[in-house]
Amino acid sequence: MRIAIKGCKIFDRGDSKFDIIIEEDRIKQILPSVGANYSGFTEIEAGGLVALPGLFDIHCHLREPGYEYKEGIESGTKAAARGGFTSVACMSNTMPPADTASVIRYIIERAGQYGYCKVYPIACITKGQKGEELAEFGDLKEAGAVAFSDDGLPVENPLIMRNALLYAKSHGALIISHCEDKRLSDDGCANEGYNATIAGIKGIPAAAEEVMVARDVILAASLNARLHIAHVSTKGSVEIIRQAKKNGVKVTCETCPHYFAADDSLILDYNANAKVNPPLRGREDVEAVIEGIKDGTIDAIATDHAPHHVDDKNVEFCNAANGISGLETALSLSYTHLVKAGHIALSRLAQLMSAAPARILGLEPRELSDGRRADIALVDFESSFVIDSSQFLSKGKNTPFNGQKVYGAVACTINEGRIVYQDIMCQGR
Ligand code: NCD
Ligand code: ZN
Repeated sequence: MRIAIKGCKIFDRGDSKFDIIIEEDRIKQILPSVGANYSGFTEIEAGGLVALPGLFDIHCHLREPGYEYKEGIESGTKAAARGGFTSVACMSNTMPPADTASVIRYIIERAGQYGYCKVYPIACITKGQKGEELAEFGDLKEAGAVAFSDDGLPVENPLIMRNALLYAKSHGALIISHCEDKRLSDDGCANEGYNATIAGIKGIPAAAEEVMVARDVILAASLNARLHIAHVSTKGSVEIIRQAKKNGVKVTCETCPHYFAADDSLILDYNANAKVNPPLRGREDVEAVIEGIKDGTIDAIATDHAPHHVDDKNVEFCNAANGISGLETALSLSYTHLVKAGHIALSRLAQLMSAAPARILGLEPRELSDGRRADIALVDFESSFVIDSSQFLSKGKNTPFNGQKVYGAVACTINEGRIVYQDIMCQGR
């Protein structure tokens, strides 16, 4: 396929207009736009749209195999494409869990059948995510696993985590840690603090996350091993990671849009779509997360896309499943609450949502330049729109952001030179 994107802005090149010429799966050339016509090409008139490198989600749940009633690889990758993502790394808490090469191969093969985006499976750290016995890292990596995580559950036993970090180091693999001491979270279901008290909901202290961030940072430091911390949500976690980085520990981390675009006041009406793990936090945490994004302590923004069926959510708050369906709102929430709010530049957002996740996983750089893979999101940052979960392509409609006015609608997504999502506005161009 040959595509010519005509007259777009480029995320890090100011207001000048460019044409992006795509042949096969690569960007052939980016050149100043002078209104040229490209016969033989599919032309996209992109006036006003901004080209970003295809986004990369380092943490999502596609639910397949096993929980296809919540999401599947087809619906999840479609939702990703609509969100501007051309690459996603999916977590291992499927059924069966991704602890064997055959599950890893199955996920890659299924994703390839659809081609909406690239899917990089993350395998379990421990067999069955039971926290007892390490999975076969070598086999799993050979089958295509890009990292190891028991996400959804912590690795409780510090000796197992230590061995996992050592074992990963010898395989050149990355451990992603879901940091939570279950004995401290103790069946709580919202952030411990004023709002949980008012609502009469049992709280989860920030320390439940922070003690495990500290533990894993200490373990990684002592072994000189790499470590990536998933969904950082508290002020204390940001501070521990900031200090660790200063001390030369090889630690990276991610946060998610709901930890800077929302706070725990959303639980006051007992809306289970605001229930997520780690929980939405207080204002001080939100500010600290934004500060961590600004000063580089936080490396990446992940969606932690955790789609659930309405039946998993339409129950008492404390019995509801944890998670937010995030692939279709991540970019607009991040743009609105970080860039439009004046905290960071658009180029930094692209780094957080595309370049950094690829770098953390050791994959080919995501850049908009000649010769690079044609993974592109065309985005309208000018006009606002209202989030409407009933229109999600994901099976999971569970979001606390429904009805919120945001900026940054994805008009078109191109994955390896193929148009995989195009909104009505862009089709009419
Ligand atoms: C995730 C899920 O539903 O799989 N839920 C969530 O609230 N984040 C698990 C996880 O990422 O911990
Ligand atoms: Zn998790």
